[in-house]
Order: sequence, then C-alpha cells, then structure tokens
Amino acid sequence: MQVSFTLRPFKSTDLDQVMNINRRSLPENYSTYFFLDLHERFPATFLVAEDKGLIAGYIMCRIETGAPDFGLLGFTKKGHVISIAVLPEYRRQGIAYALMKEAMGAMLRLKAKECFLEVRVSNTPAVKLYQKMGFKVTRTIQGYYANGEAAYKMTRKLPFED
Ligand code: ACO
Ligand code: ZN
Repeated sequence: MQVSFTLRPFKSTDLDQVMNINRRSLPENYSTYFFLDLHERFPATFLVAEDKGLIAGYIMCRIETGAPDFGLLGFTKKGHVISIAVLPEYRRQGIAYALMKEAMGAMLRLKAKECFLEVRVSNTPAVKLYQKMGFKVTRTIQGYYANGEAAYKMTRKLPFED
C-alpha cells in the first residue's frame, strides 16, 4: 500500500482514532483525560499523520525542564516524546520518521535543547528508528514497565537535521 500522508496538528475530533492506534500498538494505554490534557498543554508537539481522511499515526510530547543529558550544566528545556505509534498496515513508509522530525522542529521552536524518550529494550523497530535519527542510549532504567521490562532512555540534541 502506497500512502501520501500529510502531517497536521491533532484536533479533539481525532481522539477516538488516536486512542485506537495507541491500543492496537502499545501496552501503555492512557485515559481520554491524559490525551486531551497533553493536547491542551502542548498542542504544537501533538501531531497526526493523515491518509485520505484516516489517521495513520500520531506523536504526543511534553516540554520539560531538567538536567541535560549532554554536556551542559544547570537546567535546560527538553522535549519528551511520550508516545508515538503508526497503524500496522501503514508501517515502514516513513510516517514515524516524519512525525518525529516535525515534532522535534516544534520542540526547537519552543526552545528545547534536547529530545528524549523511553523505549522497551526489546522494541527493535522503535530503537532502530531512534538510532537512525541520531538518538543515543543515555540510561538503562531497570523495571521501568509494568511487566518488569527495562527501558532505554534515548536522547539527542536539537536541532534535528536529516
Ligand atoms: N525493523 C527495523 N527497523 C525499523 C523498523 C523495523 N520493523 N521499523 C522502523 N525501522 C527503522 C528503519 O531504520 C526505518 O527506515 P527504513 O524503512 O528506511 O529502513 C526507520 O526506522 C523509519 O521507519 P518509519 O517507516 O518512519 O517507521 P514506522 O512509520 O513504521 O513507525 C514505529 C515505527 C512507530 C516504531 C512503529 O513500528 C510502531 O507504531 N510500533 C508500535 C508502537 C511503538 O513501538 N511505538 C514506540 C514506543 S516508544 C515511545 O513511544 C517513546
Ligand atoms: Zn517518557
């Protein structure tokens, strides 16, 4: 299947489709409130990929302040990718790459200096995606997930340039 997707900001009428993609793709599922609250606070980094009126994927993020992972002293603004997923039938066509790239652009405009996320150590597709985009493992967090699995924390500096 060849898609000609477009990226656009999430809107609340997308919620059912986004929650469905999340449920089909990941064990970490969230309440309606969680999605809408994240959208209200960080609308610029909550994006969807649309193909012929259907949502094929989403990314949602938070801007946080904390200790940087790279070099710098003190506190810095960081973009935290909370969740990204693409419907199985739309995978491997560059949608996640495009969502990550666009979200990192929005993080930069919000003055973030780094982007980070956590990912299951066994989640090879996602780890490969982030490695391809220049993320490095900056920490391994044992027992991070509900089933006891460890997470890699992966970070890269902004801006992202491909
Ligand atoms: N195997 C190996 N490498 C992969 C794979 C895979 N299955 N999928 C993606 N990649 C790497 C490749 O380098 C790929 O480039 P290439 O196709 O030119 O080789 C690159 O990532 C870009 O791939 P995209 O097509 O942009 O990725 P896709 O749209 O398929 O989405 C995603 C990737 C989001 C990981 C998808 O597989 C998915 O939804 N998985 C289930 C949900 C999930 O695991 N989300 C991430 C959890 S962590 C978090 O949310 C912070
Ligand atoms: Zn996280």
